[in-house]
Amino acid sequence: MADQQSTERAKMPKGYNPVLERRTVENANRNLIKYLRPGLSVLDFGCGTGAITRSIADKTGPTGRVLGIDPNESLIEQANQQAGNTAGLAFEQADVYSFDTDERFDLVTCARTLQWLANPEAALQNMKRFVKPGGYLAILDFNHEKIIWTPEPPETMRTFYDAFLKWRQDAGFDNAIADHLQVMMHHIGFELVQVEEQFEIAHRSNPNFAVASRLWAEVAELRGPQLVNAGYISEDLRLQAIIEYDNWIATVGESMTVYLLAVEGQQAV
Ligand SMILES: C[S@@+](CC[C@H](N)C(=O)[O-])C[C@H]1O[C@@H](n2cnc3c(N)ncnc32)[C@H](O)[C@@H]1O
Repeated sequence: MADQQSTERAKMPKGYNPVLERRTVENANRNLIKYLRPGLSVLDFGCGTGAITRSIADKTGPTGRVLGIDPNESLIEQANQQAGNTAGLAFEQADVYSFDTDERFDLVTCARTLQWLANPEAALQNMKRFVKPGGYLAILDFNHEKIIWTPEPPETMRTFYDAFLKWRQDAGFDNAIADHLQVMMHHIGFELVQVEEQFEIAHRSNPNFAVASRLWAEVAELRGPQLVNAGYISEDLRLQAIIEYDNWIATVGESMTVYLLAVEGQQAV
């Protein structure tokens, strides 16, 4: 289902977790807010350190049931530690292609994870099995080809970013997955599929501009060494991209718009 190269490249490097830990339902998965209420059951595939999963559990409360799934042992370990004894919240180390249970959920969600899978439609097909009749499958993902920086970032960062997309594509990942999800959801049997823009816009006038737009410097810091080792960029280019991009943020950078779509289907009753 997933070859060794795609599994290796999808693996989240250690230290990447601060990026995941900044996320909540409100700031990073707001498409879910309309569903969340006390007592709901939710299955979260590709939960990482479980930051969004915990935020979901805050809203479903002790009478809810929230299960986060991720194949990365160290992320699941952190997720368990941070969850403590929160009632109704659990994590399990498992892969989206092969995960199985007899349990069915009101809401199955998967954010920013299909972008790391070489066979996203097979993953969607497996996820759909766990949605209760009348329940929802809610996917959130990127089209990395549609990012907009104003003004253009430094040449070194553009080169790094293009190499990152090529490195992903060579492993079989779809850089434009957000725009292909609607058709995939139809293929796996959802008749009505709702698509909502969830762009993440960081503008210099927002207090979080530096942190949000720095995402790509963090990718160069944390994922970048994988690209250097695989021969996609030099170490000099990687370091220069970080320095010059940080300078862009501090001086001329005005905004960054990351293209994300929420694509959702309701299970037949
Ligand atoms: C970018 S993180 C997204 C984390 C979180 N959902 C969020 O939106 O912040 C992608 C996650 O997908 C997980 N992942 C990679 N391959 C997977 C697979 N085959 N099955 C399930 N999760 C996978 C990674 O371990 C990682 O935690």
